[in-house]
Amino acid sequence: MVCLGNICRSPIAEGVMQHKVKMAGLDWVVESAGTYGFHENEPPHVSSIKVCKENGIDIHHQRARKLKESDFENYDLLLPMANDVLSGMQTIGGHSFSTEKCPLFLDALFPGMLKDVPDPYYGTYEDFEKVYQLIDKCCDAILSKYGEQKK
Ligand code: 4NP
Repeated sequence: MVCLGNICRSPIAEGVMQHKVKMAGLDWVVESAGTYGFHENEPPHVSSIKVCKENGIDIHHQRARKLKESDFENYDLLLPMANDVLSGMQTIGGHSFSTEKCPLFLDALFPGMLKDVPDPYYGTYEDFEKVYQLIDKCCDAILSKYGEQKK
């Protein structure tokens, strides 16, 4: 799960997907990173921690890290939360970047529509709640899409 700062959107996606994967009995390794290094080693945004907690998911232990080239070798799928994130991933990945491994996160829910998960960083708590609901729904779509073939 990849966003810009790895403090708002992708930590929610990591927490939600890890929870769903565990409930489904799958052995996927789910992690997150950001294309910016500005917030490295910081915990998730207080509103990301809060919205997850209100939905029974604890993400306070997560720490932000920057995406690195080796991630493109080590993961089967790297899902950008938005189109600007995808551009940053191409730069970081260099020769290791592959379009097939990096579909937009929301592509599982809205195929071919090139949609972004809105960045809630400068928004209100309500924006984080909306982002949580969108991520939750899309994680279900990702599980349906890849669950059978990766079991
Ligand atoms: P995220 O949100 O990419 O969902 O973690 C952001 C966090 C920080 C910044 C931008 C987006 N920033 O510019 O510092």
